Amino acid sequence: MKIMEAIRSRRSVRTFDGTALRQEDAQKILAFAEKVENPYDIPITWKLLDAKKYGLNSPVIVGTDLYIAGKMRRVPHAEEAFGYAFEKVILFAETIGVGTTWIAGTMNRAAFERAMDLSEDEVMPCVSPLGYPAKKMSLRESVMRKGIGADDRLDFGKLFFDGAFDKPLDQHKIGKLAEAFEAVRLGPSAVNKQPWRIVVCGDTMHFYEKRSKGYVSENEWDIQKIDMGIALSHFELAVKELGSSLSFEIRDPGLADPGVAIYIASYTVKE
Ligand SMILES: Cc1cc2nc3c(=O)[nH]c(=O)nc-3n(C[C@H](O)[C@H](O)[C@H](O)COP(=O)(O)O)c2cc1C
Repeated sequence: MKIMEAIRSRRSVRTFDGTALRQEDAQKILAFAEKVENPYDIPITWKLLDAKKYGLNSPVIVGTDLYIAGKMRRVPHAEEAFGYAFEKVILFAETIGVGTTWIAGTMNRAAFERAMDLSEDEVMPCVSPLGYPAKKMSLRESVMRKGIGADDRLDFGKLFFDGAFDKPLDQHKIGKLAEAFEAVRLGPSAVNKQPWRIVVCGDTMHFYEKRSKGYVSENEWDIQKIDMGIALSHFELAVKELGSSLSFEIRDPGLADPGVAIYIASYTVKE
C-alpha cells in the first residue's frame, strides 16, 4: 500500500473484531516504531501493553486488549516530535491491516502511565489500541463520530495560504504538491480541530498552529502541537512519495500575528 493510500484509508477504529492481534503483526509494529526518527531528535520509548495484565481500558474501545504507547522526556517540542513519530506508526499499522485510534483523553491514564513505568520527568502523550477492525462500528462509535464531525475536514483554502494569511492558496496552481497539502488536510487531530495552517513562500512551507481555546494545560502541554507533528509527517511522507526531497528547519519568518497563529516549523521542498 502506498503512503497516500494509507493516509486516505486510515480512520480511527474504535470497534475491533475480538480476535487477538497476530504476534507477527504486533512485533512488526513495535519494530517499526523503534526505528522511527523525528526531526527534533527526541528519543521515544515504545511498549506494547496487554490491557488485561495492567488493568487498562478506554471507554470508547471495544474488541481488543492490545495497546501501543510511547513515552519520552518532557522537553520543548515533545508534542510535535511525538505527533510526527506516532503518526508514522499509525500509518504503518494501516498498511498491514491493523486498526488504530489516537487516544489522549479517553483512557484510565494513571493505569497506562504505571504500565509504562513513567517517571517524573517523562510524558506519555497518547496511546492507541491495535487490532483488526470489526465489520460494523459500535453504536457508541458512530454516535461519537457524528458528534465530532469526524468525517469532515476544512476546505483547502481555509488551511493553506499563498505568501500571507490573507491570501488562500490556489490548489490548481501548485502542481503535484497539491497532493502533499491534501495529505495534511486529511490528517487526524484531537477532537478533529485541524489546527494546521501552512503559508507557502516559494519552495518553503511554513507550518503554523491555529489554537483552539482550552487545549493548552496548566503546565503548558499543548495537545494541538501533537496534531502539528501529524501534519509535518503527512507532508513529508507525501512529498517523498512524489519523488522530491525536503529539508526541515525552525526559523520563524514572522508572517503571523501570534494572536492568530503560532509558528511551528518549515519544510523546503527540493526537486
Ligand atoms: C492527539 C489526538 C488525540 C486524540 N484523542 C482521542 C481520544 O482521547 N479519544 C478518542 O476516541 N479519539 C481521540 N482522537 C481521535 C480523533 O477524534 C480523530 O482523529 C478525529 O475525530 C478524526 O477522525 P478520524 O481519525 O477517523 O479521521 C485523538 C486524535 C488525536 C490526533
